Amino acid sequence: MQHLFVTGGAGFIGSNFVRMMLDKYPDLAITVYDKLTYAGRVENLQDVAANYQERYRFVQGDICDAAAVDKVIAEQQIDAIINFAAETHVDRSILNPDAFIQTDVYGTYVLLEAARKAGNLRYHQISTDEVYGHVEGSHRSLETDCVAPRSPYAASKASADHLVNAYFITYGLPITISRGANNIGPYQYPEKVVPLFVTNALNDMPLPVYGDGKQRRDYQYVLDHCEAVDLVLQKGVIGETYNIGTGTEITNLEMVEILLDELGKPRTLIQHVEDRLGHDRRYCLDVHKIMALGWEPDYSHEEALRMTARWYMHNQWWWEPIRSGEFRDYYARVYGDRKRLA
Ligand code: NAD
Ligand code: TYD
Repeated sequence: MQHLFVTGGAGFIGSNFVRMMLDKYPDLAITVYDKLTYAGRVENLQDVAANYQERYRFVQGDICDAAAVDKVIAEQQIDAIINFAAETHVDRSILNPDAFIQTDVYGTYVLLEAARKAGNLRYHQISTDEVYGHVEGSHRSLETDCVAPRSPYAASKASADHLVNAYFITYGLPITISRGANNIGPYQYPEKVVPLFVTNALNDMPLPVYGDGKQRRDYQYVLDHCEAVDLVLQKGVIGETYNIGTGTEITNLEMVEILLDELGKPRTLIQHVEDRLGHDRRYCLDVHKIMALGWEPDYSHEEALRMTARWYMHNQWWWEPIRSGEFRDYYARVYGDRKRLA
């Protein structure tokens, strides 16, 4: 039986990945290792814990704690590490970059060392399209492009990618890296734009669109991303990086309009507010390399947006307690004094 060590598995993408993998492979065991920050939630995996008691284990821990990481890897006879654990929200990285440097950079180093000490374990790093920075004109970022991160979050993820590559070149650690575009779907913490806007709209609150709303993103369905990560684990070439996204892009205003239409809410909820500092106007990935491995997305960005809106509409049990907890202070800090634009 293969045994994966999935760090950050209680977060948004990690929990979707764990559920998908256990559903898909009856021979697979997974240990989730997660610090349970504000973004990590045991309820994201409560069905998994109930359905897969024999093959699923949860350990609360910090990826920066080398002794704890080594202990779990030795006890569970781990075959591969998949690192989803990270501080992930750009606006939080602007408010306070410290945790990003700790977890995303130092934590990645701890995991790489653990993989090396355990006899060069297979290691997969979950990275992001944000490492390429703002992408000009009609260019699509290639895996071979230089990274040019512009936010503290993106810089910490790019630093981690460099470390992962360095461990491949220096120690021969069998690594792969995937760089995903914006994921959307069930269990995404409502600080990210799509769940924030959907839950605001369901509460008849304004949707704070940064600046002119003409920034461009590739919104992909989380399970499409997870399938591609699995493919990289199975067939990816060791030492290589793979972009993952639909390869299409829309503006934030187009995204908002799709969400409002799906929810049956008026466009008057749109409120333009002061822009994010250093806001990247455009991300766009070239996805030929992952498609050549035999993957293509099942959902367009419009289908993904509509499915996501419906999930939040039908799963208030999940997000209402979040919005009445830590999230309220966060919301006040980021949006409280933000100027409205005409
Ligand atoms: P998330 O914020 O929902 O989850 C992150 C998880 O990591 C949480 O469960 C949290 O508790 C855990 N964590 C944080 N610090 C930790 C630490 N020190 N030790 C152990 N666990 C810790 O994030 P997500 O959106 O699921 O993103 C997962 C990964 O995918 C991240 O590496 C992120 O950079 C990357 N990514 C995300 C997106 C996206 O659109 N969400 C796109 C591309 C790449
Ligand atoms: P986000 O979900 O934070 O992802 P990222 O910045 O990492 O791509 O934001 C997606 C886009 O939505 C981005 O262009 C910023 C914009 N945005 C808003 O307009 N308003 C908001 O309140 C948030 C959180 C984001």
